[in-house]
Amino acid sequence: MEKTTVKRENWGSRIGFIMAAAGSAVGLGNIWRFPYLLGENGGAAFLLIYLAFVVFIGVSVMTAEFAVGRKSSRAAVGAFKNHDKRWTFAGVIGVLSAFFIMGFYPVVGGWSAAYVVKSVTGLLADPEAIGGAFGAFISGSTQPLVWMLVFMILNVVIVAKGIAGGIEKAGKVLMPVLFGLLILIAVRSLTLPGAAAGLVYMFKPDFSVVTGQTFLAALGQAFFSLSLGMGCMITYGSYLNKQENLANNAALVTGMDLGVALLAGVAMFPAIFAFGMEPAVGPGLVFVVIPSVFAAMGGIGTLLSVIFFVALTVAALTSSVSLMEVAVSYFIDERGMERKKAVYSTAGAMSVLCVLSSLSMGVMSGVTVLGVGFFDFFDILTDKIFLAIGGLLLAVFVGWFLDKEELRQELTNGGTIKFGLFEGWYFLIKYVIPVAVAIVAIAGIRSIEQ
Ligand code: PFF
Repeated sequence: MEKTTVKRENWGSRIGFIMAAAGSAVGLGNIWRFPYLLGENGGAAFLLIYLAFVVFIGVSVMTAEFAVGRKSSRAAVGAFKNHDKRWTFAGVIGVLSAFFIMGFYPVVGGWSAAYVVKSVTGLLADPEAIGGAFGAFISGSTQPLVWMLVFMILNVVIVAKGIAGGIEKAGKVLMPVLFGLLILIAVRSLTLPGAAAGLVYMFKPDFSVVTGQTFLAALGQAFFSLSLGMGCMITYGSYLNKQENLANNAALVTGMDLGVALLAGVAMFPAIFAFGMEPAVGPGLVFVVIPSVFAAMGGIGTLLSVIFFVALTVAALTSSVSLMEVAVSYFIDERGMERKKAVYSTAGAMSVLCVLSSLSMGVMSGVTVLGVGFFDFFDILTDKIFLAIGGLLLAVFVGWFLDKEELRQELTNGGTIKFGLFEGWYFLIKYVIPVAVAIVAIAGIRSIEQ
């Protein structure tokens, strides 16, 4: 990738876009979800499959989303509708995905914000009690709801300010902070005695643990982590100027997303192994193992814990604003709503879903949809089904319904820049990705039926 071709005079706006897009991609998916999926799916083998999906599907789909967005200068629904009214539904699925992801994402964002405070109010005092404390916290009825609302309000404040004033500014400031914080924690983790075992776990594959589920989890994670398959990158692409190299930007954002996921892994696994802890504990990994690790470090652990959960909250926030923006821009562009009103009603509806999700960890644990509680339902529905279908539709739309030469023009900025991989990209989008994603979507729908 020719990352060195950044033009100095464009740097200001380019960095704003990159930071916003990377801010959307880098989130709970990288720091909360990626490490626990890695832990649950046997480490390095999952990592390799994930890498293959990111490189062969992720970059191509992101490039395609940027192209569709910039070409149409419209957000998710408008971009499809503009070309062909019959494709409106593809954009609408994206808006629904945004609602459903925002039906659980702010709950976890709230947990993270709560842990910033809990880190200094005694959580780390008794390492033995950390697991129980997490279970008691998330299954409660008041505390997690209050924190979810705090997180939701932060979203409302940023999104109400609009793209340039709110989202772009927040991304520019908060992303580099996050990166720096993670590096700090990774260095601490790597210098612990016995840290090497964590690296072996992450990077030495054991293929005996790979099943169909591993592939499914890896593909779903690739879409989720890169913010693909729901029009988010179409929406962000629609604000891009005509001089930008779309493929290079997609590669850069993907690289940053992957980098943060790996960094999160390197920050966690060496420490987990150094302290003789269990890597495969699921969604509690970040909230149980990490505070336990910090608690065992003494005084500096409290500080690192605060830094870590600030980083996690920041990462979650720059992603959730992009999710909210997908829904909000739909109401502004297609329903003629005023921005503030769109933000308030969207956030209100999302909060209702979040209340259901949060309570499904406790008092409402008996209420299930297709056999799982609301939290898991919204998670599985989006990650394994909606995003995959959205990605599939996008690939079919671009590969079969848009003109190949027009795409070439868009991706080479009217022939002024080179995109040597165009034919390969087109082949992937037209044939390979629809088939690969269809297999995963079908498997996903089947697994939720059971
Ligand atoms: N990519 C975000 C994460 O990894 O946490 C989640 C996300 C944001 C998914 C925006 C989809 C999206 F459109």
